[in-house]
This record gives sequence, C-alpha cells and structure tokens, in this order.
Amino acid sequence: MSEQVRDNIIECENLVKIYKTKDIEVLALQGLELTVERGELMAIIGNSGSGKSTFLNMIGGLDRPSAGRLIVDGKDLFKLSEKELVDYKRNTVGFVWQNNARNLLPYLTAWQNVQMPMLFGKMQSAGDGKMVLSQNRKTRALQLLELVGMSHRKNSKLNMLSGGEQQRIAIALALANNPRLLLADEPTGSVDLSTASYILDVFRELNRELGTTIVIVTHDRMLARKVERVVAIRDGKTASEFVVKRNLADVASLADDESTQDEFAVLDRAGRLQIPRDMLDRIGVSGNKVRLEYQDGRVVLSAPPADDEQEEAK
Ligand SMILES: Nc1ncnc2c1ncn2[C@@H]1O[C@H](COP(=O)(O)OP(=O)(O)OP(=O)(O)O)[C@@H](O)[C@H]1O
Ligand SMILES: [Mg+2]
Repeated sequence: MSEQVRDNIIECENLVKIYKTKDIEVLALQGLELTVERGELMAIIGNSGSGKSTFLNMIGGLDRPSAGRLIVDGKDLFKLSEKELVDYKRNTVGFVWQNNARNLLPYLTAWQNVQMPMLFGKMQSAGDGKMVLSQNRKTRALQLLELVGMSHRKNSKLNMLSGGEQQRIAIALALANNPRLLLADEPTGSVDLSTASYILDVFRELNRELGTTIVIVTHDRMLARKVERVVAIRDGKTASEFVVKRNLADVASLADDESTQDEFAVLDRAGRLQIPRDMLDRIGVSGNKVRLEYQDGRVVLSAPPADDEQEEAK
C-alpha cells in the first residue's frame, strides 16, 4: 500500500465522478480537492446537488470515483480489488446516515443492534455460521452504548426509541468495528434542533475520547459551527473553507448566531479559484471576464469596463 500518507487520513486530489445513465451524464464531482488530518472533526456543507453525498460515498468505498486521486488511511481507493474494498468498508470506515433505518434492525434491541457488525466479523472468520457472541463483544457493545449515552436503554427494541435515540444507536453501531474514520451523511437531518445539538456533542466526544476522524455532511451552517473546520462544496468542487477561531469548549448554544469562523476560498493546485455567483453579480460581472489587479498587498477583482468587455469579446 502507499506510504505517502503520514498525518493525513484522507488525501483527495482532482477527484472526478461522472454518473452515466442511459441518456445523460452527470458530472457530480469536478476536480474536488480535500485533505483531512488524522483525528480531525470536520464538516462538509453545500447546497443540494453539490456533490456532498457523492464525495462521502467515494471515501466510504460505496462507489468508485471516475478520475483523480483518493487515498484513505494509506489505501489507494482506485487500486483496491473488490475483496479489499469489502474489507475496507468493514474495518476502516463507519457510516451514519440521515435515515437510520438503513443501518438498524427494528426487531432487535439496542444492545443486539450494536453487536451485529462484530457478529458478522466473527462469522466470517469462524465460518461456522453460529451466532454466538463472546462476552468480550457484548461488553464492547455496552461500552459503545455508554459512549453515546444509551446504555440505560440497552434492552429496548429499536422501535421503542425516539428518532434521536435511534440515531445515537446508529452511531454506536457505526463504531462497532472500531473504524479509524467515521462518515456521517446528514446525521441530524431528521431530528429537532436540540437533538441535533446533542448528536453533534456525541460526535465531538467520540472524536476526543477515541481519536476517531469524523467527517459530517450537513446542510446546516449552524451545526457546522460546532466543528473545527468546515469545507464548502459548490458544483462538485471545494469552494471555500471555514476555520473556527475560538476554543470548542466555549461553544455555548446552537442558537448563538454570532459568526465565529473565518472563511477562506480554496485554491486548487493550479491556482484556480471558484468565485460565488452572487459575489460576481454584486460586482456586476455578467460575462466570463473579470479584471484582476494587484493593489497594496491585495488582489482586487472587478468588472471589466464596458469598452474592455467589447474589446475582449472580439
Ligand atoms: N446514482 C446517481 N446517478 C446519477 N446521478 C446522480 C447519482 N447520484 C447523484 N447524482 C447526481 O449527482 C449530483 C450530486 O448529487 P449528491 O447526491 O452528491 O448531492 P448532495 O450534495 O448530497 O445533495 P443533497 O444535499 O440534496 O443530499 C446531483 O446532480 C445528482 O443528481
Ligand atoms: Mg446528499
């Protein structure tokens, strides 16, 4: 495997994903660049259709990228065989979805649910088809339930728990095989604001206690403020990055609407920059030209004068 990754758990360069269907091709990722350090807790935001889930699915090994470079935990996802990919999905990454029905079995208890992935691992290795769990696995499942604050409901069937509680079980389940990387796609999409806040706190605690790298996709900028770094994706490309300035321990409440992050536009390797349409509109750029000037240590963008525009249009 590649030795190139040292402190970075995710290295993604110029990643492209094209979905081909019978009559259309969708360019879902258009040269996305992102590096995530081991132990980071970060969020990805972006409008609907910007490519967030596509990107998460690529990192999670659920779908193959079309072009570019993607190294996760030292593994080149372009080069993994099908068998290696199964192993990768089982041991390197854990997934939490918006809709926890995707992970959880409603007729089993919380405790049984969390044991499922470990049981599967055992069956694979023992090959005897027996669903017998070692005490060790039961204990570990209980510890995970404690981590997400749900051990008191360990014997409750899933359908007896609220949506937020089920989501906490889903997080414990995603951690069952001790993944280095936890991926969460809109994990708070179906719960109310205070539950969402609680779930975000669970992620922060897991990140601190276990050192698991966590990447959360969310629509919600307010929730995104609770993490160290936020990357915004626009049209399948990394557009800008926000870095939190204050100590995370000071986060008082989600309703706090004060801006606490600096926003930086992301330059790709070729020095290209994506400028939001609304900013171009505000400076009156309608065509595909923008004036670029160096002034007193700043680079200033402005609309070309009407003459220039005609000149350039020739
Ligand atoms: N399996 C697929 N086949 C074809 N096109 C797809 C497929 N999955 C996603 N797309 C397209 O790729 C683009 C990116 O979709 P994606 O699901 O990654 O967006 P998203 O940022 O997660 O959006 P949302 O916030 O709505 O979940 C969209 O234009 C979408 O229609
Ligand atoms: Mg999505």
